[in-house]
Amino acid sequence: MTRKPLRACRALALATVLVLAAAPASAQSPGDIEAALKAAYSKYKDLKEGANADYIPALAKVDSNIYGIAVVTTDGKVYTVGDVTSEVSIQSISKVFTMARVMEEQGPQAIAENMGVDATGQVFNSIVAVEQYKGGEMNAMVNPGAITATSMIKGATAEEIWKTILGTYSDFAGRPLSVNQEVYKSEAETNQRNQAIAMLMYAYGHIKADPLRACDVYTRQCSVSVNAKDLAVMAATLANGGKNPVTGKQVMKAENVPEVLAVMATAGLYDDSGKWLFTTGLPAKSGVGGGILAVSPGKFGIAAIAPPLDKSGNSVKAQKAIADVSNALGGNPYAPKPK
Ligand code: DON
Repeated sequence: MTRKPLRACRALALATVLVLAAAPASAQSPGDIEAALKAAYSKYKDLKEGANADYIPALAKVDSNIYGIAVVTTDGKVYTVGDVTSEVSIQSISKVFTMARVMEEQGPQAIAENMGVDATGQVFNSIVAVEQYKGGEMNAMVNPGAITATSMIKGATAEEIWKTILGTYSDFAGRPLSVNQEVYKSEAETNQRNQAIAMLMYAYGHIKADPLRACDVYTRQCSVSVNAKDLAVMAATLANGGKNPVTGKQVMKAENVPEVLAVMATAGLYDDSGKWLFTTGLPAKSGVGGGILAVSPGKFGIAAIAPPLDKSGNSVKAQKAIADVSNALGGNPYAPKPK
């Protein structure tokens, strides 16, 4: 071989490496993403399974037909289908971002040590789960761990703590979010079980401040209003190492993201988390408002909203739609290709 072709080969190899390095984080083309969204949307549009949550009376009144899906890639491109402007309350999805904030303030170990990072195998508001290990050996995705995480946010007053929480969520979503007052009032009037859980977590020494104040701030955080696009941007911020890919703001340290995703993978869909991970491989979080968000690390965030829930409290359509879209786009981080 003469020197010239060898140089040409090297140049070609270098160019290939550069092209691969410059390839967008999601290997899928915009057309692929749009096609996957459209297919999942029409496949489940008329599905009538499940029912709105009604243990919080205001949630029973939400339009059951809201159905939208959004994907936001780590290079900041937004793809949507269906209704992505109607808002629902964020509910338990908020738990992810409060936990993330506690990790920012005190490090991931503070979460692991105070409420644990293991699945409970029980429903999200289980008192048995608290009793089993005196409030330890659980996680921040179920109510006892989540109310405890809220109590750990730094601030002298409830208002100061609330400002930090709402500011954090807004940074993740890339726009100022606000509370749905009707949902807040409805849950505050009916949250005696969560108050009891907060008291128990206080009695076992996990909550160190006023437990009823923690429960009230938690109730407010659950009432924050979001649409499917907001949730997808929040998920994409986690997928992008804590930097919001739409606004460019570093919202949390990249080094804390793996611990956030680990707890989501373990317990994000409650007692159905194993089934979910088996189907999609994605760290995710559901809320009884009907939203679910999921993270394909380094690739994209995805979210769907559809209020009717299954028996575990997870949106029926959102689970199916996210699984289909992510699997079509190669989103599963546990699916390496053989070399
Ligand atoms: O504390 C509650 O019961 C609600 N604010 C949140 C529960 C929830 O979203 C569970 N999700 N699947």
